[in-house]
Amino acid sequence: MSVETGKLYAMKSIAELWDAAADTFDEEADHGLRDPAVRAAWSARLAGWLPDGPLDVLDLGCGTGSLALLLAEQGHRVVGVDLAPRMVARARAKLAGTGASVLVGDAARPPVGDRRFDVLLARHLLWTVPAPGAALSRWTGLLRPGGRLVLVEGRWSTPANVTPGGCGGPGDLGGPGGNAGGPGGDPGGPGGDAGGTTGGDAGSRGGPGGGPGGDAGGDPDGGPGGDPSGGLAGDPGGGLGGDSGDSGGDPGGGPGGELPWAGGVSAADLVAALRPLVADTRVDPLPDPVLWGKEIDDERYAVVARI
Ligand SMILES: C[S@@+](CC[C@H](N)C(=O)[O-])C[C@H]1O[C@@H](n2cnc3c(N)ncnc32)[C@H](O)[C@@H]1O
Repeated sequence: MSVETGKLYAMKSIAELWDAAADTFDEEADHGLRDPAVRAAWSARLAGWLPDGPLDVLDLGCGTGSLALLLAEQGHRVVGVDLAPRMVARARAKLAGTGASVLVGDAARPPVGDRRFDVLLARHLLWTVPAPGAALSRWTGLLRPGGRLVLVEGRWSTPANVTPGGCGGPGDLGGPGGNAGGPGGDPGGPGGDAGGTTGGDAGSRGGPGGGPGGDAGGDPDGGPGGDPSGGLAGDPGGGLGGDSGDSGGDPGGGPGGELPWAGGVSAADLVAALRPLVADTRVDPLPDPVLWGKEIDDERYAVVARI
């Protein structure tokens, strides 16, 4: 199998896992934003991270479109991108009448042609991207001069201490998903099997995931699952800026391979990865329980990076 074919298979699997989460995704407080207090908290945060608009905003890995809707309500022109068609269907329904559009596609290579944006937003996406360094590099190229990345991320587990948690990522993709220590966790979600050593169990902490828990991961040799051991933590400078066969160098970004940031990425590591790409970065810790609909005990933050 060629590298490119392998990548396609891996991405298809990731999309299927997320599709399986679509029906229940919005049940998590920070996903559906159904509680007015949670919704208002995210709206206020977004307003604080973005300059005055209206702006062209690209929401990558937009899921069911909850943040995209807040942005559209603030007057911005929003384009969402998500790999999972069922997530996209929900986002399109949620955004109907706002003028926002939602595309099915790989956020690592957003299918936006020559369009350029003032802001790229990604919440809880990087942990599930096979080559996050290459994606960051591409994203900066989609920004207009003076544009900014707004990256809402977290570190839900470490290779040495993968705790049950899960944040709704596809199984032990290890993100804010059902299993491998993501801040989320849908114990009853599709999948739910820890899927191997990196897996953890059905998320007991809950969090931003609520995703397709599952058994797709945990195999350090393959599967869109999460062996975070090849991660960038501790070596953020190494290997960033490309994926295998591309512009090269994210560890673990091969076909069906590991997710370098499974389990999430610390703010320090993300800032280190961004440093060669942007003019400045600001980190906003996000410990406020109102954002998550519950108390949290792991690292959550936003990085605002200006090019
Ligand atoms: C944890 S959810 C976050 C959704 C949304 N950003 C939010 O905060 O509510 C991750 C989303 O990223 C999508 N996703 C995962 N990998 C992707 C990729 N390579 N390209 C586009 N979307 C992807 C999944 O389908 C899922 O909808």
